[in-house]
Amino acid sequence: MAVSGVILLLFVIGHLVGNLQIFAHPDVINKYAHFLQNLGPGLWAVRLILLGAVVAHIWAAVELTLENRRALPERYEADDTIQASYASRTMRISGFIVLAFILFHLAHFTVQIVDTEYRDLYTKTVDGMVVHDVHTMMVKGFQNLWISGFYIIAVGLLSVHLRHGIASMFQSIGWRNAKIAVPLDKASIGLSILYFAGNAAIPLAILAGIVS
Ligand code: HEM
Repeated sequence: MAVSGVILLLFVIGHLVGNLQIFAHPDVINKYAHFLQNLGPGLWAVRLILLGAVVAHIWAAVELTLENRRALPERYEADDTIQASYASRTMRISGFIVLAFILFHLAHFTVQIVDTEYRDLYTKTVDGMVVHDVHTMMVKGFQNLWISGFYIIAVGLLSVHLRHGIASMFQSIGWRNAKIAVPLDKASIGLSILYFAGNAAIPLAILAGIVS
């Protein structure tokens, strides 16, 4: 769970940094997307690693749930949770909704079946390269209030998932001890808030007309 979690965490942070280029000149994100789309076998290698990490993460989550049930076949009569945080108790539901979001997101921006017109969006960069106009695709995509709302809710849930996931990752690897527990919790909360703010800023800036 921890190893697949680290791979997915590195991907979502890298992806956010890449996406924040939407705030620069359109050529910047278009050239970046063009570079990624033309990585050829390299792109497929990364996709396979990500797919493997998602499958491993879900498999480990199911195993963990089954193990917990085996350890405690009878549920407590009263649910008096004191230690577990709100996030830890919602890992399954936030994980499930994030998975549904990823499938929608791939259909939306990668396979482009939510709006097939995105496939015909091409533009010429200042230095004359003809590239897929990912900048316009993102602007058009997030001008839809429902889609933007769904993205913001999904990245919100993903941030809650990350907040607990980062702390548990250290616990699983055996690096969490009394000395670092509090700073680790603070760091995971800080990182999750930053992650949410960065992601939510993209649809919000487009809806507000700041990015067009
Ligand atoms: C506001 C938030 C997000 C924005 C603006 C965004 C934007 C994009 C765009 C534009 C693409 C297509 C790039 C291209 O055409 O080459 C893409 C692909 C992708 N995104 Fe996101 N994304 C966001 C959040 C996420 C999140 C939270 C995840 C995962 C949890 C994610 C996972 C992916 C994956 C797996 C791909 C496919 C990469 C590939 O194999 O081609 N994205 N995203």
